[in-house]
Amino acid sequence: MIWLIGNKGMLGTELSLLLERNRFPFVGTDRELDITDMAALENFASAHSFDWIINCAAYTAVDKAEDDGDVCRSLNADGVGNIAATANKIKARLIHISTDYVFNGKGNRPYTEDDPTDPIGVYGLTKRDGELAVLKNNPDSYIIRTAWLYGKHGNSFVHTMLKLMNERESISVVNDQNGSPTWAYDLASTVLAFFEKDVPFGIYHFTNEGSITWFDFAKEIYSLGRKNGSVTNNCKIKSCTSAEFPAKVARPAYSVLDKSKIKTALGITIPPWDESLRKFLEA
Ligand SMILES: NC(=O)c1ccc[n+]([C@@H]2O[C@H](COP(=O)([O-])OP(=O)(O)OC[C@H]3O[C@@H](n4cnc5c(N)ncnc54)[C@H](OP(=O)(O)O)[C@@H]3O)[C@@H](O)[C@H]2O)c1
Repeated sequence: MIWLIGNKGMLGTELSLLLERNRFPFVGTDRELDITDMAALENFASAHSFDWIINCAAYTAVDKAEDDGDVCRSLNADGVGNIAATANKIKARLIHISTDYVFNGKGNRPYTEDDPTDPIGVYGLTKRDGELAVLKNNPDSYIIRTAWLYGKHGNSFVHTMLKLMNERESISVVNDQNGSPTWAYDLASTVLAFFEKDVPFGIYHFTNEGSITWFDFAKEIYSLGRKNGSVTNNCKIKSCTSAEFPAKVARPAYSVLDKSKIKTALGITIPPWDESLRKFLEA
C-alpha cells in the first residue's frame, strides 16, 4: 500500500491519476493531514499498512517564502523530517521530491547528485534541509530533484504564459536563466518506475531532456499555442534580463540537472522538453 502525501498539488494530482490508472493501491492525503503534526502522521500510518510513502507536499511559493520563512521551514524541512521519521518507524520506503533550487545556479555544466548544494533563497534552503532530514531520519529513501515543473493541475509557467499571450499584445520573458522544463506526467511516470526496480537509495535528478531559457520556453508555448488554438491572439514575445524583471528573490541562473544516474538505474529514456510540451498542449 502506498501513501501519497500532497495528493492535491500539481504533481500529487498527476500521481493520483497515474496510480489509479495503473491500479496501485494507495491512499492520498493533503492539508487535512498536516505534515507538521508528527502525532497525526504517526496515528495515520499506524492505521494502515504502508510499504511506500511518496511526498509531494511542500511550501512552493518561492517569493513569498522570503517573508514567510518559519512557515516554509516548518513544511519543507521539519514536516519532511516528520514524514521521514514516520516512514522509518513503519519501515516504509520514502520517495521525496526536491528541487534544482538547492544549487546556487553559478555552474556551467549540468549538476550531478554529488555536486555541493548552496541554495540562494529561503525556499531552496528549506528544501535542502528537508533533503538532509530525509537522509538522516530514513536512509531507505529516494530523493528526486526536479525543476521547472508544469502540469494540468494547478498554476504553472505554461498556464500563466497562455493566459498572458491571450490578453496582451506583448510580453517580456527572462532570457538569462537556463533550465529544463519538466512535464509533471513524465516525472510521475518516473516515480512509479521506482516501484518496479530495486535501485540504490539516495538522490536522483529528473527533468525532461534539453535545456533552454524561460524566453525560449515562452516562444515555443506561443508557437504551439497558435497552432493548436490555445492562443488566439497576436502577441510579441520579448526577451529581457532578470534584472529587468523584479522578483523578491534571485533564481538560479543555471539549473540544468545531470540525469545520467536515474537513466542508468531505472533504464529509462527521458523525453525532450519540446516533445513533452507538445503532448501536454495537445492533451
Ligand atoms: N512547481 C515546480 O516548478 C517545482 C520545481 C522543482 C521542484 N518542485 C517540487 O515538487 C514537489 C511538488 O510540487 P508541486 O508544484 O506539485 O507543489 P504544490 O502544487 O504546491 O503542492 C503541494 C501540496 O502540499 C499541500 N500542503 C501544503 N501545506 C501542507 C501541510 N501542512 N500538510 C500537508 N499538505 C500540505 C498543498 O496544499 P495547498 O495548495 O492548500 O497549500 C498542496 O496541495 C514539491 O516538493 C516542490 O518543491 C516543484
